[in-house]
Amino acid sequence: MVPPIYSPSANRYDSTMKYRRCGKSGILLPEISLGMWQNFGQTSPLSNSIEILHYAFDHGITHFDLANNYGPPYGTAEQTFGHVMKHSFMPYRDELFISTKAGYDMWPGPYGNWGSRKYLFSSLNQSLKRMNLEYVDLFYIHRYDPETPLEETLQALVDIVHQGKALYIGISRWPYEATQFAYKYLAERNVPCLIYQGRYHIFDRAPETEGILQQAKDNGTGFIGFSPLAQGLLTDRYLNGIPQDSRIAHGGHLKKEALTETTLRRISALNEVAKRRGQTLAEMALAWILKDDMVTSVIVGVSSTAQLEKNLKAISNTTFSSEELQEIENICKE
Ligand SMILES: NC(=O)c1ccc[n+]([C@@H]2O[C@H](COP(=O)([O-])OP(=O)(O)OC[C@H]3O[C@@H](n4cnc5c(N)ncnc54)[C@H](OP(=O)(O)O)[C@@H]3O)[C@@H](O)[C@H]2O)c1
Repeated sequence: MVPPIYSPSANRYDSTMKYRRCGKSGILLPEISLGMWQNFGQTSPLSNSIEILHYAFDHGITHFDLANNYGPPYGTAEQTFGHVMKHSFMPYRDELFISTKAGYDMWPGPYGNWGSRKYLFSSLNQSLKRMNLEYVDLFYIHRYDPETPLEETLQALVDIVHQGKALYIGISRWPYEATQFAYKYLAERNVPCLIYQGRYHIFDRAPETEGILQQAKDNGTGFIGFSPLAQGLLTDRYLNGIPQDSRIAHGGHLKKEALTETTLRRISALNEVAKRRGQTLAEMALAWILKDDMVTSVIVGVSSTAQLEKNLKAISNTTFSSEELQEIENICKE
């Protein structure tokens, strides 16, 4: 049977989604973006991935976040995205803001890792092929390389933009000082850093405490938070044990050991605060990040359309009273 041709919802920009300006750029990003780190590789059913991607675009999610090593196995999340590009999204390419990254071990030998010009160019060329794209909207250096001169990495990013293979450049997980160097280097070459990507959630406030959020704002750069639900801990997923189909049960990056008694107690207490706000814990966790206008967007990772549907509800209430904020802070210290 010939599969039906995808036709996106005509209301995709009228419903729930809100868009925020990314730093001092011309780009608007949806408050909730979709990340393809874990649930879109070869080990996940393709039909489920397609359903989630369609649902996302149908509801105003224009930004899809990938990396060369997303899967598992590595490369296969980009292949899944490439499949959807080819079969569904191609007519809507200009409505999409697609990012990928390079920085972690990708292929054997000395040129498949870290921050050399050689690796970054080769990796992006591979990513474009897997995703059926001529260019990405945003290309990130995925991590800080303490051995490659920063100038080499940054100049490669500038040249990638000059070649038209990426429209914008982003930095992920770089320390403060190196980031400052990067912002200056890139701005001086008229390829300003569009966005900084860092881990940010109720249990991990490093972007605030390390000054990364303020630094991005001061440099006219946006900030996008990853793992906003602490990989699922900040949801109702583990309140009553470890479900068979959960990330912890799959035995990947989120370990059983993360579910300590203290963490479980905090999750339960946060769940009560969320209920009083008329939100689920996942909704409150996303809203808690979006309360700050220094944040451009959060990247959620979902394993089902139902999860994404619930998460989108967070957008409708991102305001917290000072008492609620204090209570959340206290819970995280108890
Ligand atoms: N730059 C970097 O170094 C870096 C690192 C990590 C991630 N990222 C980016 O950030 C994205 C998101 O990361 P993440 O997947 O860790 O994000 P996350 O949103 O914190 O966690 C996603 C997981 O939470 C659970 N979940 C989501 N919505 C739920 C809901 N409504 N109810 C119950 N459970 C829910 C699901 O777990 P189950 O699978 O158990 O259902 C889902 O797989 C990645 O895809 C990637 O794009 C970037």
